[in-house]
Amino acid sequence: MSDKIHTLSGYIHEYQRSVQDPEGFWARIADSFHWQKRWDKVLDWNFDGPDVKWFVNGKLNITENIFEKNLYTLGDRPAIIWETNDPKEKNRTLTYKELFHQVNKFANALKANGVKKGDRVIIYMPMVPEAAVAMLACARVGAVHSVVFAGFSASALADRIEDCKAKVVLTSDGNYRGSKSIPVKALVDEAIDKAKGNVEKVIVYKRTGDDVHMKSGRDIWWHDAVKDQSEENKAEVMDAEDMLFILYTSGSTGKPKGVVHTTGGYMVYTKYSFENVFQYEPGDVYWCTADVGWITGHSYIVYGPLLAGATTLMFEGVPTYPDAGRFWEIVAKYKVNQFYTAPTAIRALQAYGTDPIEKHDLSSLKVIGSVGEPINEEAWHWYHSHVGKMKCPVVDTWWQTETGGIMISPIAGVTPTKPSYATLPLPGIQLMIVDQDGKELKGNSVEGNLCIKFPWPSILRTTYGDHERCKKTYFSTYKGMYFTGDGVKRDEDGYYRILGRVDDVINVSGHRMGTAEVENAINEHPKVIESAVVGYPHDVKGQGIYAYVICDLENRTEANLINEISETVKNIIGPIAKPDKIQIVPGLPKTRSGKIMRRILRKIAEGDTSNLGDISTLLNPEVVEAIKEGAK
Ligand code: PRX
Repeated sequence: MSDKIHTLSGYIHEYQRSVQDPEGFWARIADSFHWQKRWDKVLDWNFDGPDVKWFVNGKLNITENIFEKNLYTLGDRPAIIWETNDPKEKNRTLTYKELFHQVNKFANALKANGVKKGDRVIIYMPMVPEAAVAMLACARVGAVHSVVFAGFSASALADRIEDCKAKVVLTSDGNYRGSKSIPVKALVDEAIDKAKGNVEKVIVYKRTGDDVHMKSGRDIWWHDAVKDQSEENKAEVMDAEDMLFILYTSGSTGKPKGVVHTTGGYMVYTKYSFENVFQYEPGDVYWCTADVGWITGHSYIVYGPLLAGATTLMFEGVPTYPDAGRFWEIVAKYKVNQFYTAPTAIRALQAYGTDPIEKHDLSSLKVIGSVGEPINEEAWHWYHSHVGKMKCPVVDTWWQTETGGIMISPIAGVTPTKPSYATLPLPGIQLMIVDQDGKELKGNSVEGNLCIKFPWPSILRTTYGDHERCKKTYFSTYKGMYFTGDGVKRDEDGYYRILGRVDDVINVSGHRMGTAEVENAINEHPKVIESAVVGYPHDVKGQGIYAYVICDLENRTEANLINEISETVKNIIGPIAKPDKIQIVPGLPKTRSGKIMRRILRKIAEGDTSNLGDISTLLNPEVVEAIKEGAK
């Protein structure tokens, strides 16, 4: 039985059912999966712990639901189509059967290298099918994968290796990205040296053919590791609540936290949301342009589509290489039906005009999606008109690493869309808007903080190694609710528009960045005395990073210092965290209790200095004038 919604009244009906009887609703959806043992109870929960368990005592393996369950019917269907960075290089397609064999071989290789159920495996790889194979092989043997975006620095990788106590790291010799080739293996070596921990093995996929140092006894080539392995592997029996993966994400405090997702609920929700939001039909080609290093890649390149038996396209490169028509060329080449990207990519391509689009046939497109940050109306219209040719619904999907799957979104072709609105919650998602004091704002035409009051199957379960932090970050601001960190408006039609973060997190090109995390990196520079980082509106990135820095300028010019600080951030976090603007300032505006007045810094960064509010209560009001002057 299909759980797909086809009409607006169907959506309303399903939504009501999911609220009136969540357990009955999700049990019905979960029954279409293969369980080695059915659950005893659908849901056990409280948000005080928090302690959430879905499909209690159910036993399964998520990969059996991708492979064994469907092989007879779709073994020869393409599972992954891989398009290389360089259009001249040969692409690759893996059928479900071929992918299954590769996953099994690699699962056996992991076992041969000592990986057991519960061990943590870091995946620091380019966008090659083997990255998906690696994730699925971990799931097959019950190891917990933690994919680290390959654009992160050695130092960021070291932190993650240390935090999750990784036993094995999977990587490549190098990565291609546009015209660049990045020496990844050297970064892994540096990270392992830096991290306190015990990485026993590093398995290296040969991508660029660059010369790399292989440490004897520790490092093995991927092709050697799988060479003699069988294509068969018996899936490990997992509890529904066994960890599937850890994914690190930034928050308001300094250190990224490891968001933990478990097996059963994540499986049920990603497939359900994928099929519904994108209205995937058998035979369609679906393409999500994210990287597997982010949650979007986990849920909507790998798990959701593959659980649904879809053909998922993986692209190794960037939107503007070799030219700004690259995305559209790929859509035409594979007759892509569903296309899912980020507003930052849309805005970047918008800048090239419509010529690169018009050279390609986009008539295969049925649905176009957006994720990661608010999509401004202009970009929405451009996307809808020029990419979707006014006929493809735009699904603006709001969700988070912590939610595991899409929470608020149109169901393509079912929910009427409205530019820059994520529209309505998916079935099972019980939203609540609250004011600063946690009082519910009922009815329509209200604006406040977005909370969710009832668990859904793919809600995060904890933050790895620090449950208290999970509680404090998400479940303590407003008692009995999950707090998203986002501001939201519910308009007169009951439609939701996400307004952006209300905490100290900024969203740069759809990537989450904690201001404290960037400040910590800046402060590592020996000449830096203190810094404050805020977000500001940026035409392409959505938000840019603005850093105010107090420095010791002895023996340095400002320009040199700014370059050095930028390099420091790149080395500590990665190029994505490099500030767009660094302003050397004589001081930072502080309250009498020593707290930095970020509100003032945000206003100056936005270029809006007309109304800074009352600054007379500051400890150092004179510094505001100097900062304003310097910002000009
Ligand atoms: O602020 C929201 C924004 O991205 C945050 C989550 O970031 P991350 O965990 O990295 O996941 C991104 C991909 C799911 C949210 O708190 N965000 C995500 N999608 C949207 C969005 N803001 C507005 N509209 C969206 N569609």
